[in-house]
Amino acid sequence: MCGIIGIIGKNDISDRLLNGLKNLEYRGYDSAGIATIHDKEIHRRRAEGKLINLSHEVSKHPIKGSLGIGHTRWATHGVPNETNAHPHATNMVAAVHNGIIENFQTIKEELGLLGYKFQSDTDSEAIVHLISYYLDKGLSPKEAFSNSLNRLEGAYAIALIFSSNCEKIYGARSGSPLAVGWGDNEMFLGSDAAALSNETTNISYLEEGDLVELSRDGANFWNKLGEEVKRDIVESKFNPIQIGKGNFPHYMLKEIYEQPTVIGDTLNTFFNPADSEIKLPSLGVNLAKISKVTIVACGSSYYAGLVAKFWIERYARVSVEVDISSEFRYRETPLPKDGLTLFISQSGETADTLAALRYAKSQSQHIVSLVNVRESTIARESDGLLLINAGPEIGVASTKAFTCQLVALAVFTISLGVSKKIIDKNESKKLSKAISEVSSKIADILQDDLQIKSISDNFSDVSNVLYIARGSEYPIALEGALKLKEVSYIHSEGFAAGELKHGPIALIEKGVPVIVIAPEGPLYEKTISNMQEVIARGAKVIIITDSDKLGDLDKKVWKIVSMPKVDNFVNPILYSIPVQLIAYHVAVSRGADVDQPRNLAKSVTVE
Ligand code: M6R
Repeated sequence: MCGIIGIIGKNDISDRLLNGLKNLEYRGYDSAGIATIHDKEIHRRRAEGKLINLSHEVSKHPIKGSLGIGHTRWATHGVPNETNAHPHATNMVAAVHNGIIENFQTIKEELGLLGYKFQSDTDSEAIVHLISYYLDKGLSPKEAFSNSLNRLEGAYAIALIFSSNCEKIYGARSGSPLAVGWGDNEMFLGSDAAALSNETTNISYLEEGDLVELSRDGANFWNKLGEEVKRDIVESKFNPIQIGKGNFPHYMLKEIYEQPTVIGDTLNTFFNPADSEIKLPSLGVNLAKISKVTIVACGSSYYAGLVAKFWIERYARVSVEVDISSEFRYRETPLPKDGLTLFISQSGETADTLAALRYAKSQSQHIVSLVNVRESTIARESDGLLLINAGPEIGVASTKAFTCQLVALAVFTISLGVSKKIIDKNESKKLSKAISEVSSKIADILQDDLQIKSISDNFSDVSNVLYIARGSEYPIALEGALKLKEVSYIHSEGFAAGELKHGPIALIEKGVPVIVIAPEGPLYEKTISNMQEVIARGAKVIIITDSDKLGDLDKKVWKIVSMPKVDNFVNPILYSIPVQLIAYHVAVSRGADVDQPRNLAKSVTVE
């Protein structure tokens, strides 16, 4: 979603603002802009569309100034055009904003009556007029800012510059993250550490309700009560090399190929390969006493939760409820006293998941989160943390974070089963061994990428694709369909294979591709029967299977993706790889913008 950068430097900084915005492109955006202060005036350049348009604008009409702010905007209120792009400005103040100001209409009407002229359709513009109103009343920039914050309802991360002061940048957060970067006589603001990775790895994170004032030699922080506070400086793991594409044409492909490594890295944090012993970090809860687990997440993270439901119920015999964050938070679901609620979020910043976490907290739940970003808000507000080691995921479509989430959930399942004495030592060793072999099996599957590509190239012109599976692979059918629709814009749906005949089979007509995920195991025969039903109605079946006993089915299916044989337990992790590759190759062959698909944002920080 929207991204923020702010720099208070030594020389002209417009190029550095643009470079910072480049690092934020992965979050998803549809317009961008920068503003600087020079000669006591605000200088602003904005453009609709990709950053290249803004760069051209800045090349044609350069701006000077050693202090400034920049923004990538993902439209919420008002279409993505230049007028609605940030920074918004009056002649006194310019602001960039992430989040949503819910009471903007009231502020707009009040200030409109007092003669303040709004130019855009955005909620964010209310911020600069409100601050100007307080400046007009004679308040200092900091007072005007903090008085305005008291009036704002909703979620925000804000960065501000004032025409009267080329020595200071201000920032504040409530609901949306904001980071301060420490340089050498230079200071920075960013919506995340990635924005600042060209400049510094020394980062302080604002707490909820904080206001910060940056000058060249440091930062002063105030908390939500207005008290001056200190915020720790931590070393960010982001570095520009890590967030480069290397030799890969897209981040998505690079991240798919990183899976053998990052799954190994994730596993190493929970598992000692020498004795196959699992060591979960302390989650602050007695696993033996847990009678129910509630899992809450969005998108791919939700599908990881659905796999975990299957695993935890099957292997640890604990009942699991999985909910979509945006539904859970409003459903007022009854939760067991002192129950365990597990939040899964790659970014750790998803607004719906964070709100659901706060609801669960208010219901005295023990909060554990599974995230990829240690410093994220969700991680910081949790009682226990399962941290995956996927490294920065830049492609909007989640790939490596999803499989690392599955690895962490598999490890959690074993620990829970052992604590509850459902899984004995032998079973634990067997399951742990299966997980420890996943990395090398994925490397084997990646060797077949060319074959998967040639299969994918054959159905780049279709308009519907169905995915079917059963059991723990059913969520992978959902995930495969999500991946394909996200990056290729082909309509695709995942179904439990046994559910087809209750309705979805009506979608089958001659030539519709159906991707059947069918590892050998207890549900294999049943899945194959469902596959026969769609073949009988003209579907073109691509079967992903480890079976070498297809017999005459070999002639009936359209294509076969062969998989290695592994313990059934880890099949969902392995079968994620071909569905990721199919989505990627189909999207590329359709010429889609794989890493920044239309309308999507990497970290969804608004409701
Ligand atoms: O950062 P989170 O895991 O909380 O994000 C949740 C979803 O927004 C995310 O998984 C989304 O569905 C991805 N685009 C999937 O590829």
